[in-house]
Parts: sequence; structure tokens; C-alpha cells
Amino acid sequence: AEKVQPGQFVMVRAHERGERIPLTAAGWDREKGLLSMVLSAVGKTTSELAALKTGGTIANVVGPLGRPTEINSFGTVVCVAGGYGVAAMLPIAQAMKEAGNRVFSILGARNGKLLFWKDRLAAASDDLIITTDDGSEGRQGVVTQPLKEILEREGVDRVIAIGPPMMMKFSAVTTKPFGVSTVVSLNSIMVDGTGMCGSCRVEGGGDTMFACVHGPEFDGHGVDWDLLLVRQQIYLDKEKQALKQW
Ligand code: FAD
Ligand code: FES
Ligand code: MG
Repeated sequence: AEKVQPGQFVMVRAHERGERIPLTAAGWDREKGLLSMVLSAVGKTTSELAALKTGGTIANVVGPLGRPTEINSFGTVVCVAGGYGVAAMLPIAQAMKEAGNRVFSILGARNGKLLFWKDRLAAASDDLIITTDDGSEGRQGVVTQPLKEILEREGVDRVIAIGPPMMMKFSAVTTKPFGVSTVVSLNSIMVDGTGMCGSCRVEGGGDTMFACVHGPEFDGHGVDWDLLLVRQQIYLDKEKQALKQW
């Protein structure tokens, strides 16, 4: 909590026999030594963490890891957050605002029930647009529609997109014709989180990089998205194949 910066993450182990999983730092209190993380219970470890009660303990936390977000006085910044990506985005939007930028935020989710921290993100932004796939809250549709409108209307200097890979990919596709620098935060599979195992490798701008030490943020226009999407599925596919053979 003392050292963490926007854009960094930690590796968390739920208990002594548990695996290590990466979670993004969503907030902190340096004096009290507190760190906030937000998680979506999608499998074993995240469900174990979600089942913790107030006052419960976890085995350990390693971090901060990864490179911090580049915070600067760019001018006009658009923060595009999808799903639980808002947790990672909040400290970035706050820091961008503090650095003197005009901050537009776009927050998207499948439906209104999945939206959280709207008020916090709104407080860090000059304007906040909400989209939902089913139209249950805000505008119906995906985040790239308001993103395109802002790009057409305002002089945008930087876009940051954090969320599901598809959402980040299409945010980068949307900004490309406008020539606006676009940063994405990649959620590749991580094991050690310190550059040793190579499981988090991503291809970007013709280079092979490790998301845990060279990222997790990269230039969205250089990322090989198709390869990233395949690699994310690697264990799922292997498990399915193993099950079929069995
Ligand atoms: P599993 O059933 O093991 O996996 C479900 C899916 O999660 C997999 O298909 C895969 O896509 C992903 N996953 C599994 N293991 C890993 C791993 N070791 N590394 C990366 N992805 C994995 N999730 C959040 O809810 N909140 C966050 O703030 C957050 N921040 C992240 C930051 C980074 C830098 C990265 C790389 C991932 C982040 N994730 C975050 C994703 C989170 O790590 C996975 O959802 C979690 O590991 C799933 O574990 P599980 O055992 O519950 O599910
Ligand atoms: Fe092992 Fe990045 S997680 S090298
Ligand atoms: Mg797991």
C-alpha cells in the first residue's frame, strides 16, 4: 500500500495450498496500510476469495507488480472501462484528473446490475457515459459507440481501455483511424508475476514481451489480439481435450 501506483497489480494466494492469482490494485490508504481489490468470482480461487468473511485472512500478497500507468498532463483523456475493469480504472482516472487532464469516462457492462463504482468514477471525470448491452441502464450498446462520438467531437490526446480483451481490442480498432495513442491493460495468464515463467507472454509491435514486467499496459495498436485470445483459452482447451480423451 505504501508503494503501489495506478495500473499495478498484486499476486494473491487465498490459503497455504492455494494458487497465486493476479488482481489489480483498485485503491489504497498509504497511512493505514490498506489495499483494495475487486474481483469477479469466475472459478476456484476467486470463489474462495469471495467466500471470505469480514475479518478473514488470506495467505499472502506479493506486490506491487507491473509497471505503473504513465500519468501525465496529456490534455484530454478518455477512460474506457468494461465490467470489473472499472476497479483498475478508478485510480488511473483519479490520477489523470489530478495531473490536470480533462477526463471523459465510459463505463460499460452487460446489464445495469453488473455496474459498480459509478459515483466514484463520475467524481474523477468531467463526464461519465454508461452503456449496457441490454439497455437496462444508460445507453443501450457497447462502449465503442460513445468512444467514437467523443473522438469525432473532441480533440482527444489519449485513450485508456481496461476490460475484457474483446472490448479492449475494439476500443483500439476504434481509435486507430483517429491516430490517438491507446493504452490497454492485458490480462494474460500469469504464474509468478515477476518475469520468470513466460506464461504471460504477449506479442506487441513485433516484439515478444511479458505482461507482468513489461506491462500489464501496452500500446493497444501493436497488440496481437488474436494470439492473446487464443493463449487465454489455453488451459480451458487443454482441459476440454483431456476430458474428451478420458
Ligand atoms: P479459473 O477457473 O482458474 O480461471 C478462470 C479464467 O480466469 C481462465 O479461463 C483465465 O482466463 C483466467 N485465469 C485463470 N488463472 C489465471 C492466472 N493465473 N492469471 C491470469 N488469468 C487467469 N480478476 C478480477 O476479478 N479482478 C481483478 O482486479 C483482476 N485483475 C487482474 C490483473 C491482471 C494483471 C491479470 C493478468 C488478471 C487479473 N484478473 C482480475 C483475472 C484473475 O486473475 C482471474 O479471474 C483469476 O485468476 C481466476 O481464477 P480462478 O481460479 O477463480 O478461475
Ligand atoms: Fe511468469 Fe509473467 S507471469 S513471466
Ligand atoms: Mg484458478
